[in-house]
Parts: sequence; structure tokens; C-alpha cells
Amino acid sequence: MSIDARYAFLRELAPAAGRLADDYFRRRADLDVEVKGPTDYVSVADRAVERMIADAIAQAFPGDAFLGEETASTLDGVPARVWIVDPIDGTHNFLRGVPYWNVSIAYVEGGVRTLGAVCEPCAGALYHARRGAGAWRADARGDARLSTSERTSLPGSMVCLGHHDRFPDERYMAIRRALMDRNVAFRNFGSAALQLAHVAEGRYDGFVEMTLSSWDAMAGLLLVEEAGGYVAPFPGDAKLTERAPVVACGRGVAEALTALLG
Ligand code: IPD
Ligand code: CA
Ligand code: CA
Repeated sequence: MSIDARYAFLRELAPAAGRLADDYFRRRADLDVEVKGPTDYVSVADRAVERMIADAIAQAFPGDAFLGEETASTLDGVPARVWIVDPIDGTHNFLRGVPYWNVSIAYVEGGVRTLGAVCEPCAGALYHARRGAGAWRADARGDARLSTSERTSLPGSMVCLGHHDRFPDERYMAIRRALMDRNVAFRNFGSAALQLAHVAEGRYDGFVEMTLSSWDAMAGLLLVEEAGGYVAPFPGDAKLTERAPVVACGRGVAEALTALLG
């Protein structure tokens, strides 16, 4: 089965998963929430959306492997073809009714991220990309091609600096200070994949988070790459199931942002 077939499938699957997640979002007050750790939540919605996505992939492409946030421990070895899924990225926002969360699905073949989709139900938007074929935002008005910000200097730019609610991190404070010292507006909207999608469309000039999992980042990084942006190697030497730093931005600020991170 070809990449064409998988890309067509992905563009159907991601909005379907987004609709299921959105259905739970509207009923979030009634959801059972499990606390995995301090400010680490999982709800029936995360599990149900992941199951729906995993079942659809298993049925359509039975030979492909699956790596999902809620079932990550079941991944075996280094698969040649693997779908990497965050059923709800931005769960804390989701549970509090903040409309900034998404469903993120990537397809990686031979270690190369090849397809990616980030569905933002609250905006009625599907961000999608195929390696070599550009990054796109689809909504009720059709598909629009994405390109990253053309800004060439860091002062005056807007950079999202993600930070896991669960890990105190001195490095984070140092980066934040360095951004402030250079008159960079920094933000954290609490959803890595969506912030990457929004870097791809040029809404923000960059995104940085020092410890992210592949399901948080893989789809969004392909969006940024295909929108013409700079992306630091990810996951680098880390395994697909390990956390690694993510840096993505418009090409014009890449050198300055990378230097600032040290
Ligand atoms: C989290 C979000 C958040 C980021 C965390 C992630 P989750 O994913 O992307 O923005 O700061 O590092 O774990 O737990 O909502 O899927
Ligand atoms: Ca996530
Ligand atoms: Ca998640």
C-alpha cells in the first residue's frame, strides 16, 4: 500500500478522531478523570480516541506499527512503518474547557517522518502535510498552503516556549529570561502539536520545548518543515519512546534562536 493511500486515509481519520474528541469535550464535565501524577491527567476521552485511531489503522494497514501516548509501553522494537499518535494533545486545556487542544497523528517510514495531521476541532481546522508536497490548512473554505513567518530578527518576534506542567525546569527559566532580554514575546498555550501547527502557518515565529515525546511533536514538525521552516533534528539520538528537545521556527530567526538556546 502506498503513501498516497495512507495520506488519503489520514485526512479522513484525523477529522473523524477530532469529531469524537470534540464530542467528549462538549461533555467534559461528566468525564471520569484519572490523575496520573501532579497536573498529569488522562480521561476516558484520551483512551477512547486513541482506541478509535488504533482500530482504524489496524484495519486499514494491518502491517503498520502503532505508537500512541496512552499505550506507548506496547511498542516493540524499531518498526519500519509506524503511526505515532497523541489522541488529545493539550489534555489539561481540554479538561478545563480551554479551546486549545488537538488530535495529532504522524506516519513515519524508515525513520523518516512522512505524513502528519493536526486536527484542531475548536477552530474547525485540519493541518496536514506530506513530505515533499507542502503543508496545508483545510477548513470549510478549502485548503490553504502554509508558510512559516518571514521575520528575520528575534527582537519583536513571538516565540512559544512550552513547558511541561509536571517538571520544574531551571533551563526553562534561563531560556525565558534570554527571550525577555531580547524583547521576544513568549507564550505557552499548553499544546505542543498545535503550537507547531501555528508556527507552520506563521502565526508564531517559533516554538521551543526542551522535553517532548514523539507523539507531541512528530506531526507538527513535519508541518513546519513542509511550510519551509527550520526544524532541529528530532528525536536525535533518543529512541522514539524517549523525550527529546524540540526547536522549530521560521528560517529567518533560526540562527539567532538556536544561539540563544546555547
Ligand atoms: C502536553 C502538551 C503540553 C506540553 C507537554 C505535553 P498532553 O501533552 O503538549 O503543551 O508542554 O510537554 O506533554 O499531556 O496534553 O498530551
Ligand atoms: Ca501531548
Ligand atoms: Ca495526550
